[in-house]
Amino acid sequence: MSVSQLAREIKESSTLRLNEEARILREKGEPVIHLGIGEPKNQAPITAILGSAAKLKTGDIKYTPTDGLPSLKKAIIRYMEEHYNRLVAPENIIVSTGAKQCLYNVLFSIVNPQDEVVLLAPYWVSYPEMVKMVYGIPVIVTPEDGTFHPRMEDIERVVTSYTKAIIVNSPNNPSGLVFSEEFIAEIVDFCERNGIYLITDDIYHKLVFDGKRAPIAYKYTDKDLENSRLIVVNGVSKLYGMTGFRLGWVVAPRKLIEVMINIQSQITSNVSVVSQAAAEGALTGVQSVVESLRLTIQNNRDVMIQELNTFDGVRVPKPQGTFYCLPDFRAYRDNSIELAKFLLRKALVVTVPGVDFGIEGHLRLSYAGSVKDITEGIERIKWALDPESPNEIYIGDRKLVRDWL
Ligand SMILES: Cc1ncc(COP(=O)(O)O)c(C=O)c1O
Repeated sequence: MSVSQLAREIKESSTLRLNEEARILREKGEPVIHLGIGEPKNQAPITAILGSAAKLKTGDIKYTPTDGLPSLKKAIIRYMEEHYNRLVAPENIIVSTGAKQCLYNVLFSIVNPQDEVVLLAPYWVSYPEMVKMVYGIPVIVTPEDGTFHPRMEDIERVVTSYTKAIIVNSPNNPSGLVFSEEFIAEIVDFCERNGIYLITDDIYHKLVFDGKRAPIAYKYTDKDLENSRLIVVNGVSKLYGMTGFRLGWVVAPRKLIEVMINIQSQITSNVSVVSQAAAEGALTGVQSVVESLRLTIQNNRDVMIQELNTFDGVRVPKPQGTFYCLPDFRAYRDNSIELAKFLLRKALVVTVPGVDFGIEGHLRLSYAGSVKDITEGIERIKWALDPESPNEIYIGDRKLVRDWL
């Protein structure tokens, strides 16, 4: 078999490998707890279901404009006004297959071979691979002060004449951190002054806790949209728990959107009209669904942190948003892939190795599932790792005895 050099360079996801192992264990009837999940458990909003069902009922399921239906764009424009305080035109928007395709379209549109894209560790797993897929070079910045909050001085140190873009994801997957107003103001100013694109991946922007709000990059630029370097990526996947509809959007200068439309029209064309109707339903329907999801997840976050705090050796910054946290397990094991494998095999708990996000020695734990899964999952992890915990545990109806500490 002959595989391209580029394809060979794209990493296998250890997340998917662990998911597959977990699936096989579940099929065998093992009581696996999944703390790796990347989507809320809610039902899609009723207005989304009704919107897509009404479209299906017409039987008129055809192509739409590549960049999205005008009525959906109208809903996105309203969303941008309400949540970003920015009036944008339909020509500033492209609707794509999830935030994932949005990011890929953006990178495809702006990155030349060997251009550098700055990524802030911990970063979302797909960023480095996507940059490589457009022949760019991912440049990773790891906060040197041991926190998960990026610092401008670290970023400025790696910026060169090859730097084409910086990706900022706040609220952050995997740490759950929301970056400060001060940092967002600084990085917007830096990018606008230096002609570097600032791609803000805002896919979790309303899943923020304790009455806080995620800073909005637009607030800190005085440039109009057509002359600004800001590019916003968002979508319905996380806020509305509509991951399966596969719908996201980009807001950017029209000239850039035109390029993205050309690219998308040669690859996937439009997002399914059924998904577009669903997204329009979600965006124009009652918004209390987002608030109730947010409150459920905030409660789950509290349970997760309370449980993790019972571990003497584990340190975890309290997440301010998303449905993830990134505890430090180095007191028990340095290699996060080994640790995740160990926890799956011994305790039947799925976690995601921090090394996939550029931070070794940590695990990403998700609290998007049920409170029961969180408490039981952490109890099992504690049993497997902490010599101070009782050495017997019930997993399903089996009593297990720890004999390795
Ligand atoms: C930070 C981040 N960006 C983008 C995505 C992709 O979102 P979508 O499912 O809309 O493609 C995810 C999904 O996990 C994510 O965590």
